[in-house]
Amino acid sequence: MDRKEIIGWLREEREEKLCGLWYEADELRRRHVGEEVHLRGLVEISNHCNRECHYCGLRVGNRNIRRYRMTAEEIMGCVNEAVEYGYGTVVMQSGEDQGISKEWMEGIVRQIRRETPLAVTLSLGERSEADLDAWRQAGANRYLLRFETSNRALYEQIHPTLNGRRSDRLEILRMLTRMGYEVGSGVMIGIPGQTWEDLAADIELFRDLDLDMIGVGPFIPHPGTPLGRDVEKLLAPVSEQVPATELMTYKVIALARILCPEANIPSTTALATLNLAEGRELGLSRGANIVMPNLTPVAYRADYEIYPAKACIRETAEDCRTCLNRRIASIGRQVGKGKGSRVNNSSLTKRF
Ligand code: 5AD
Ligand code: FES
Repeated sequence: MDRKEIIGWLREEREEKLCGLWYEADELRRRHVGEEVHLRGLVEISNHCNRECHYCGLRVGNRNIRRYRMTAEEIMGCVNEAVEYGYGTVVMQSGEDQGISKEWMEGIVRQIRRETPLAVTLSLGERSEADLDAWRQAGANRYLLRFETSNRALYEQIHPTLNGRRSDRLEILRMLTRMGYEVGSGVMIGIPGQTWEDLAADIELFRDLDLDMIGVGPFIPHPGTPLGRDVEKLLAPVSEQVPATELMTYKVIALARILCPEANIPSTTALATLNLAEGRELGLSRGANIVMPNLTPVAYRADYEIYPAKACIRETAEDCRTCLNRRIASIGRQVGKGKGSRVNNSSLTKRF
């Protein structure tokens, strides 16, 4: 599929045509990654962040959230719940928190790998080569870092430098691959200023990077952020601006599946936030094969406010698990067993 065709699908409005897209994505999903929906237990370990990303509620400039950092004991409590619930993976996520030291995180990763059968995914932002390498050596299996948009100018507008150091997430993604991590990335859909051409290029980049995991979700304005306050002013001309809608998110999930048939693709919380009733199920029926039940203690949930009105902030880990199991069964799929690593594929020979 070339750029023009991708844009054609992104702009497609006719329901009968879109049915064909959903069908193809669902077929490819079944053929390449099967009927299993893998559960990744999400632990939001800290909401401290030293960056100023214009879209994110955790940005250092937002004084209206209560900051927390979980203790090692609290984290292990969540990890043990993941084991008890039969999840294959825990995902440790945080803002870019310098209070999370290389050594501290290393200890946690090592303990999880030693004491449990779980795969460990980290999603801790842009960290140094030494940190990433140490965590990999300690046993971390996967790393998630969205590149947010492939349009460099737009990226720089919404993602200020840190101490004058220009961030290059693509370089970090390549480094992670070299280190032997399974690598996940993704974008936000409908960032003010994001054009059809940009989004099509994002999807092509998923393929070119040969990503193991692809996470996408709609941009949701947060009033405590510059992008959230000035959405209207920053939009591209009407005919060019990608809308941050639920439908657009399904299209991107489906196209990601078609261009990257073997990737693990989650049906994300941001999607559930737009449609709590059936967003997750529709994502799973249109290319996705992963969901991420939240394990974060309820006391901290609401404070991990990347964007407002996030779905499921009052549910306990047990509630999340029951709810997702029911949703997966309702669409005739099964809960995955084991770690749910990227399926065997030709690129493995490339990588190792
Ligand atoms: N709306 C939607 N997604 C957001 N993210 C950050 N801020 C927002 C927002 N306002 C996404 C980014 C980030 C991930 C952790 O959450 O893509 O990489
Ligand atoms: Fe950068 Fe939140 S401000 S991840």
